[in-house]
Amino acid sequence: MNIIIGSDHAGFGLKEECRVFLEENTTHRINDVGVYDRNSFDYPRIAHKVAGKVADREYDRGILICGTGIGMSIVANRYKSVRAALCHNIYTASMCRLHNDANILVMGDRVIGVGLALEILDMFLKTEFEGGRHQNRLDMFESC
Ligand code: RB5
Repeated sequence: MNIIIGSDHAGFGLKEECRVFLEENTTHRINDVGVYDRNSFDYPRIAHKVAGKVADREYDRGILICGTGIGMSIVANRYKSVRAALCHNIYTASMCRLHNDANILVMGDRVIGVGLALEILDMFLKTEFEGGRHQNRLDMFESC
């Protein structure tokens, strides 16, 4: 898969861990759009960059990380056809794929540890959408 990943300063550490994990353990193509250090950086700028490219279908999946994950998810979900899921446990990482066909995973660096985050990331990437009645429900998103 083609994956785009980004964070603000608060998510920089976990973003780096995720990028290295993906590069060393998978064959996915990863585009890291920053940030590249811990200097303060406004999270909406990275959320727009990642969500815009996922919405345009330039990438199959996106990964966004900030302090809580909340700001990134709010911005990303403003894009039509983006379904960003804020996940801090493995169950929701699985369900956001099975039932919601989430195309962006959001996590909070200040909320969970690296070990759990990497398991969430792995689950998000390997779980397929179930389709069927869940697709019918996704189709209803476009009516608002
Ligand atoms: C940055 O301090 C913090 O507000 C940001 O990373 C994020 O948590 C916003 O939702």
